[in-house]
Amino acid sequence: MKTPHDFSGRVALVTGGASGIGLACARTLASGGARVMLADRHAEPGEAAVAQIRQAGGEALFVPVEVADPASVQAMVDATVTAFGRLDIAVNNAGVGGVRQPVATHGVADWQRIIGINLTGVFLCLQAEIGAMVAAGHGGAIVNLASILGSVGMAGTAAYTASKHGVVGLTRVAALDHAADRIRVNAIGPGFIETPLIARALADPAMTEHLIAQHPIGRLGQPQEIADLIAFLCSDQASFITGSYYTIDGGYTAR
Ligand SMILES: NC(=O)c1ccc[n+]([C@@H]2O[C@H](COP(=O)([O-])OP(=O)(O)OC[C@H]3O[C@@H](n4cnc5c(N)ncnc54)[C@H](O)[C@@H]3O)[C@@H](O)[C@H]2O)c1
Repeated sequence: MKTPHDFSGRVALVTGGASGIGLACARTLASGGARVMLADRHAEPGEAAVAQIRQAGGEALFVPVEVADPASVQAMVDATVTAFGRLDIAVNNAGVGGVRQPVATHGVADWQRIIGINLTGVFLCLQAEIGAMVAAGHGGAIVNLASILGSVGMAGTAAYTASKHGVVGLTRVAALDHAADRIRVNAIGPGFIETPLIARALADPAMTEHLIAQHPIGRLGQPQEIADLIAFLCSDQASFITGSYYTIDGGYTAR
């Protein structure tokens, strides 16, 4: 779907761009004229996504990244600036789901892996992206993927919930630290969205029913609905919005 926002002349970087919300976001930004760098740990679906965007008339490239690795993240941003000459928009979307374990018996290795990708990964991306934007001096817009679990909890999801609460706080501080550099930083909190991330839950009809029942609107979300909010926050129409966190959850957190 073509976005109503004009991103012509802008360069956008989307982590986790090979699947789900990241893929919808990359396609949406490209439809508005942005040149898009898709970054993901999985090259094959990433290259396929690039081909899809090009077929639709957009401009895109793929770069492999492991967002928990500082050198890999810096190489991703360097590759974007080398290929496209600048960086205006970044969507820090790469993330993994949690394990279901109560706090008392939560595996420490699971905790470190999930925090390492979902929270430290966003921190490392912010550092490299903001570094490039400050060096160029033209400002920018960044959106971080939190979750409804950035504002409420869910039993058995300690690492995931802590990582997403962390992303909300980190977003606010990054916005404060770099407002004077004209870099806007916001976070969004989706409810349950139909992507491969929740495929295991969706394979169980009873679990699917249970999840739908948590969303007063009566269904789960679609990746495009999340991409449309991200595109707005990256656009000039959101020029007064920074340091904010928006849930987009069919009423999940309104109860
Ligand atoms: N799907 C949901 O219900 C939902 C709800 C709230 C928030 N989110 C968040 O939205 C974001 C995207 O989720 P999605 O549902 O599209 O998931 P997805 O699994 O469809 O896509 C995630 C992408 O991130 C990539 N990725 C994962 N770890 C990576 C790493 N360490 N380095 C580089 N790439 C990595 C994966 O390869 C994949 O392509 C995540 O941050 C997730 O926590 C999802």
